[in-house]
Amino acid sequence: MRSMPMPESAVLDRTTAAAGGLGHGAVRAGEDVALALDRITCTFVAKEGGGQRYTAVSDATLEVKAGEFVSVVGPTGCGKSTLLNVGAGLLAPSTGQVRVFGQPLQGVNRRAGYMFQGEALLPWRSAIDNVMAGLEFAGVDRAEARERGEDWLRRVGLGGFGERYPHQMSGGMRKRTMLAQTLIRDPDIILMDEPFSALDIQTRQLMENEVLELWMAKRRAVLFITHDLDEAIAMSDRVVVLSAGPGTRPIGEFVIDLPRPRDVAEVRMHPRFVELHAAIWDVLREEVLKGYAQQKRK
Ligand SMILES: Nc1ncnc2c1ncn2[C@@H]1O[C@H](COP(=O)(O)OP(=O)(O)OP(=O)(O)O)[C@@H](O)[C@H]1O
Ligand SMILES: [Mg+2]
Repeated sequence: MRSMPMPESAVLDRTTAAAGGLGHGAVRAGEDVALALDRITCTFVAKEGGGQRYTAVSDATLEVKAGEFVSVVGPTGCGKSTLLNVGAGLLAPSTGQVRVFGQPLQGVNRRAGYMFQGEALLPWRSAIDNVMAGLEFAGVDRAEARERGEDWLRRVGLGGFGERYPHQMSGGMRKRTMLAQTLIRDPDIILMDEPFSALDIQTRQLMENEVLELWMAKRRAVLFITHDLDEAIAMSDRVVVLSAGPGTRPIGEFVIDLPRPRDVAEVRMHPRFVELHAAIWDVLREEVLKGYAQQKRK
């Protein structure tokens, strides 16, 4: 695995962030890793075409510490969503183990909130009803759920839009609603799958900054999937590069030692950003080309 030389200060910063990140007191031994994907392999067997097997992910190991913001970049179709589904407990790996705060994961990961890649709002529910759904399912009293839902809609800039249905909102508003829906339960681990890829660049940067601000306040563990390298560097403490499929696995890991708080638009001008971008792209470029060639062959 290739890795950037890491200045001492970056190590210190990360340790401080992780220790402060729990927000529930001291880090307990063995629990400082919020999510561990340990030697994960995922093989899919096609129902049609004579039961052909496709190994999307092979022997992939990845950790997110408490309080850490980790981005995963990789070519399209390489297995990013598959890995996230494994971390969420929605997909059982063929081999390997998932640990959540040191405990082997069985079934759905209840410590995690998952913002899906596609549109995941219930079309028959208004924004407020979508946002409070998770609390209701968890048995929270309806009046309290509503109050907390309205508070979260305000936090994501949608105060006053609670009665709108998904089809009455813009793409950006729907993404904001999904963000509120994910964060309202205050999950210890936040999983986000290309949450802003469908947005225009200005809306996207505004939302990236909002997410960073919310994250700075709580410092939960974040596993963020994107194929946008700029976004990954601007947001993260660490960027992990995945190889092209089949048999995707991490092939590079880079500590992002840029100062925080960050403005995602401004941080792109930082000389260190440019340096990190060049170093990561050097690893990613070849995989993107391989991934593209494979998709053309399909
Ligand atoms: N349930 C499934 N059955 C069969 N193949 C699958 C299944 N889920 C994913 N795959 C295959 O595994 C590979 C990885 O898919 P995945 O959705 O994880 O990619 P991705 O990196 O998230 O792609 P994108 O960047 O386009 O979102 C793809 O080739 C996909 O076709
Ligand atoms: Mg995906």
